[in-house]
Amino acid sequence: MKDKTVLITGATSGIGEALFYHYAGLGYQVIACGRNREKLDKLASFKKNARCLAFDITKGEQVKQAAAQISKIDLLILNAGDCQYIDDVMKFDSDRFAQVINTNLISMGIMLEHFLSKIPKGGRIAFVSSSASILPFTRSEAYGASKAGVDYLANSLRLDLVKQQINVSLIHPGFIKTPLTDKNDFDMPFLLSAEEAAKRIYKGIAAEKDYIHFPKRLTMLLKTFAILPNFIWRSIALRSMQ
Ligand SMILES: NC(=O)c1ccc[n+]([C@@H]2O[C@H](COP(=O)([O-])OP(=O)(O)OC[C@H]3O[C@@H](n4cnc5c(N)ncnc54)[C@H](OP(=O)(O)O)[C@@H]3O)[C@@H](O)[C@H]2O)c1
Repeated sequence: MKDKTVLITGATSGIGEALFYHYAGLGYQVIACGRNREKLDKLASFKKNARCLAFDITKGEQVKQAAAQISKIDLLILNAGDCQYIDDVMKFDSDRFAQVINTNLISMGIMLEHFLSKIPKGGRIAFVSSSASILPFTRSEAYGASKAGVDYLANSLRLDLVKQQINVSLIHPGFIKTPLTDKNDFDMPFLLSAEEAAKRIYKGIAAEKDYIHFPKRLTMLLKTFAILPNFIWRSIALRSMQ
């Protein structure tokens, strides 16, 4: 295990930070990534098996320079992301829409361009998407579209990487308590801690699962609504707007 290298984007906060402590605590060689240098320095000083790389995942040149410092990654966890809502649909904010798609989806393409070649046969890429992509939620035009894109990217990539024997896990967390959700002003059913989310992601990846979703009492409920006639979910989703 000690010779396995895990790179985690978005390790300076929330789920990524919890994943960092989980993997580093188990003895993996962990590379924490993010933009917040102060936080990255703190993570890098946690244990000898931890180091950090500061870069913005949306900036090709920065990602290229970061990748040049790495020779091999056994597990690439693409977790960094942002959530911003389209608050007034009639004044559709295309800048906000583009920013969310850029951070959550386009950045994944940039990361793949520069890091895919570092993953050996038997390695794995884990995409942190969201259970929000299972059904449409109000004000989630940008966030939901970006995560639906991540789902397709991961599932398509899994097929194309069969020959290279590189595995792909797609992760659908439910509501997790982090700075990203602290700003939500609505009820978040079955909210889990970031530490609990990290444990479940670790367990799913260790079991070589293609698809990891939790908590199941939320994701299975959403999946059930997704196969029922549309009007049922629509009436529930619209009620949440009142
Ligand atoms: N919390 C939830 O309920 C929940 C549910 C489902 C899915 N998710 C997904 O889980 C992932 C992590 O979310 P979280 O809740 O842990 O959020 P968070 O606490 O806000 O952390 C977001 C992380 O992403 C990094 N990041 C954002 N933009 C970046 C950029 N341009 N370049 C580099 N790093 C960037 C941030 O690092 P810096 O600020 O240092 O750059 C930070 O470490 C996201 O993809 C999110 O969509 C979260």
